[in-house]
Amino acid sequence: MAVKDVMDALRDVVVDNSRLSELIKDIKLIGRTLEIVYRLPRKGLEEHMVEKTREALERVPDVEDVKVRFVDDVPAQPVMGSPAFTRRRVPGIKHLIAVGSGKGGVGKSTVSANLALSLSKLGYRVGLLDADIYGPSIPTIMGIKGGKVHVDHENRIIPLEKHGIKLLSIGFLLPSEDTPVIWRGPMLMKALTQFLFDVNWGELDYLILDLPPGTGDVQLTLAQNVHMGGAVVVTTPQDVALADVKKAVAMFKEVQIPVLGVIENMAYFVCPESGKKYHIFGKGKVVEFATSYGLKILGSIPVDPELAETSDLGHPLVESHPDSDVARAFISIAKLISDITERR
Ligand SMILES: Nc1ncnc2c1ncn2[C@@H]1O[C@H](COP(=O)(O)OP(=O)(O)O)[C@@H](O)[C@H]1O
Ligand SMILES: [Mg+2]
Repeated sequence: MAVKDVMDALRDVVVDNSRLSELIKDIKLIGRTLEIVYRLPRKGLEEHMVEKTREALERVPDVEDVKVRFVDDVPAQPVMGSPAFTRRRVPGIKHLIAVGSGKGGVGKSTVSANLALSLSKLGYRVGLLDADIYGPSIPTIMGIKGGKVHVDHENRIIPLEKHGIKLLSIGFLLPSEDTPVIWRGPMLMKALTQFLFDVNWGELDYLILDLPPGTGDVQLTLAQNVHMGGAVVVTTPQDVALADVKKAVAMFKEVQIPVLGVIENMAYFVCPESGKKYHIFGKGKVVEFATSYGLKILGSIPVDPELAETSDLGHPLVESHPDSDVARAFISIAKLISDITERR
């Protein structure tokens, strides 16, 4: 089905904060010529959109020629020159850092929690917000499962606190762990973007935001509505993870959120007997990816059974084994992040 392939390809391209697929007014495939009519979100974007469309459709079979037209129905904007949305700052937060990944299961939550603890060890006041509607695992990792939140006299949510970190999870809003995913999508995201601004975080130097994996509408909605100081991306050296993290980087770029760097997780395994390093998923792939995207590698975390185990027990490694090599690696990543963000 060629038109479906086209839609899929255009859904992955973000221009001026909209997916190309969302801007389509009309689409026709006549023979091998595809005719697309777009709504133009902003004047001057025509050339960029044509270029991005051609690029995205290069790999779609059955399409040889692409003709693009535009209709002008730019919605009236209250302030001249302002973007179609306004990004609000979360009250009390100095730096909001999003942790993203292309794929799930690459260790995004493990990294988020240990980074939050590392920043706290460096003397910063830190909060951790679990926005992963598909797998809110921060409550387990931080040992605060089943926590209940309350509101203050101004009706603002009071975050929980554990290991010196202020914590809030979308998991606290879910009726139960088995809530079907269909209920978790847009509805919950709306709730999250609203409640994000009604939290009494106090004054924090860093709020770490554990995003859902991928580049779906959830991530876009957040990125469009919340002022973020930067993002870090987590990937493993596997090809499937790298392919997806490239999309995540492209998304942050399109919504103009600076990517502070890449964290390579499960980079290698050190045999406890021989001390020998094994690059299980291959060596050098993350460096290659980071170099080609002009990104800094903030650090590499090995496969470490203790990291997994301490997470399952609710005593993250940086808190329970602060002097271990892996905890030190997290702390050094946190130092880099604080250097970069404080310099801005
Ligand atoms: N470096 C690592 N070494 C060993 N296990 C890890 C490592 N990073 C993550 N894990 C484990 O892998 C699983 C997925 O990690 P998680 O942080 O939940 O991923 P994500 O948030 O990206 O879905 C968890 O069981 C976690 O404990
Ligand atoms: Mg997770």
